[in-house]
Amino acid sequence: MSGTETVHVALDARAYDVRIGRGLVAQAGAEIAPLLRRKRVAIVTDVHVAGLHLAPLRAALSEAGIVSEALILPPGEATKGWEQFTRSVEWLLEQKVERRDLVIALGGGVIGDLVGFAAAVLRRGVGFVQIPTSLLAQVDSSVGGKTGINTAQGKNLVGAFHQPALVLADIGLLDSLPRRDFLAGYGEVVKYGLLGDSAFFDWLEAHGPAMAAGDGAARQYAVRRSVEMKARIVERDETEEGDRALLNLGHTFCHALEKATDYSDRLLHGEGVAIGCALAFELSQRLGLCSQEAPSRVRAHLRTMGMKVDLADIPGDLPGAEALLALMGQDKKVLDGRLRFVLARGIGEAFLTADVPREAVLGLLSNALG
Ligand code: GLY
Repeated sequence: MSGTETVHVALDARAYDVRIGRGLVAQAGAEIAPLLRRKRVAIVTDVHVAGLHLAPLRAALSEAGIVSEALILPPGEATKGWEQFTRSVEWLLEQKVERRDLVIALGGGVIGDLVGFAAAVLRRGVGFVQIPTSLLAQVDSSVGGKTGINTAQGKNLVGAFHQPALVLADIGLLDSLPRRDFLAGYGEVVKYGLLGDSAFFDWLEAHGPAMAAGDGAARQYAVRRSVEMKARIVERDETEEGDRALLNLGHTFCHALEKATDYSDRLLHGEGVAIGCALAFELSQRLGLCSQEAPSRVRAHLRTMGMKVDLADIPGDLPGAEALLALMGQDKKVLDGRLRFVLARGIGEAFLTADVPREAVLGLLSNALG
């Protein structure tokens, strides 16, 4: 089994390490102790994750002499709102968390985003450690400092950039993920190959099935390469003035599909990203930006992995092409009223554009709806 690897995110005073390896929760005390001023931490997690990973984490902290308290929130996307945010902030204050203490976010993207935002505003900013427990959180949401909650007006509309002090991505935790959740996270992994590293996409074509089947070395390599790519992009553009938007490949379509399915179990975020990537490549080909081979390879790989690829793979009815386009227009990545898309000149060659004719998107969606 490969040892722990480190990806450093070089952001001057906000720099930190992402540690990637098997067994990191069992070593959490030793990993976190050097960052603590006093040997106390507050952990926020959810019911599902707590049942699997909270006791081992607390035992590991205790071995290093670190006292911990834990708040266990309900699972699911609904947790990422004002109610549980207020509850978390008040609980952290009751625990007397001070500015130089650390809060631990133990969970998937919902917990990471919510707890990161609570840490960002608590006493005008306390440090936090991300221990991501889903593949999606390990390769995307735990790295880069985007934190926030959803409101009645939309997803992630209230939040802050607040970088963690450390990320512990324990590959072993992925063993307990249901296959559907694992594959949804894999949608974000594929995204990295598609947006900027064709050799990584080649590697995923060869090793993706073994990775999904549980190959630990393949999982570690895929997480490490994804995190490296994200780290380099975040270093160039921490607050998404430019290049960071490349991470939104497939997301404009995905957000419309998530809204159209009421953010329900019909479509997980990572599944929407995979379908969105396939649509973005198809659109790129229609606009003459890339050859037919590129979208064909994207689709073939997603199919081989047993993932959703087409709109028809989403159970239930979808609105028509015009309605989906209108939902895209509500995406927060709209600038000056124009839709911004991440398109591609080939696999690994994504770029941002605001020059997409409305008719091209409409035609693509009409055909995709069948
Ligand atoms: N998940 C996209 C980003 O972190 O920018």
